[in-house]
Amino acid sequence: MPNTCDVVVLLSGTGSNLQALIDSTRTGDSPVRIAAVISNRADAYGLQRASDAGIATRSLDHKGFEGREAFDAALIELIDEFNPKLVVLAGFMRILSADFVRHYQGRLLNIHPSLLPKYKGLHTHQRALEAGDAEHGCSVHFVTEELDGGPLVVQAVIPVELHDSPQSLAQRVHVQEHLIYPMAVRWFAEGRLTLGEQGALLDGQLLGASGHLIRN
Ligand code: GRF
Repeated sequence: MPNTCDVVVLLSGTGSNLQALIDSTRTGDSPVRIAAVISNRADAYGLQRASDAGIATRSLDHKGFEGREAFDAALIELIDEFNPKLVVLAGFMRILSADFVRHYQGRLLNIHPSLLPKYKGLHTHQRALEAGDAEHGCSVHFVTEELDGGPLVVQAVIPVELHDSPQSLAQRVHVQEHLIYPMAVRWFAEGRLTLGEQGALLDGQLLGASGHLIRN
């Protein structure tokens, strides 16, 4: 297909977001081609999902490197063998060095299970419950040097129910992740989503502080 956008996905775990991306590329008219899936954990189930779908896989164990910079440099080399236009973080449980983030500036996306800027880092569902939030959700954002802090692309909002546990909330947030991440990746692949100096742009329009907002 002309104008195909090659994507490399990085993950450390089960890869349900990878699966949603794979499924979204099977529509026939998708401009997205997943060129490779790379994990820092050889046993990540996401690698299995990728090879089941006929996608190239690689693993690179961070424990074999002295320090973050050395690992990230090797990771850049590995990713760039596939010459991707976009790098997608899908549960990649590593903090990335400034060099890595700069190398992929404007073409590095992440998904986070909270309504950023709330609850950066881990245990987001529990923290939303403990705070008594009426709403929770997930965010896709461009990655910058600030952890979970880059310009927002899209957020999906769900109501918190009276009897929610971190697990039930995680489950409903995951459903939303599987909708918004393929959507954002497709926007990028179509050339509609870019990173400008003041934030993320969709069709040339600056997205607001929350990115494109989807309420459920
Ligand atoms: C998701 O909750 C995502 O928001 C976070 O890591 C998790 C990955 O889940 N960054 P999965 O491996 O895609 O199922």
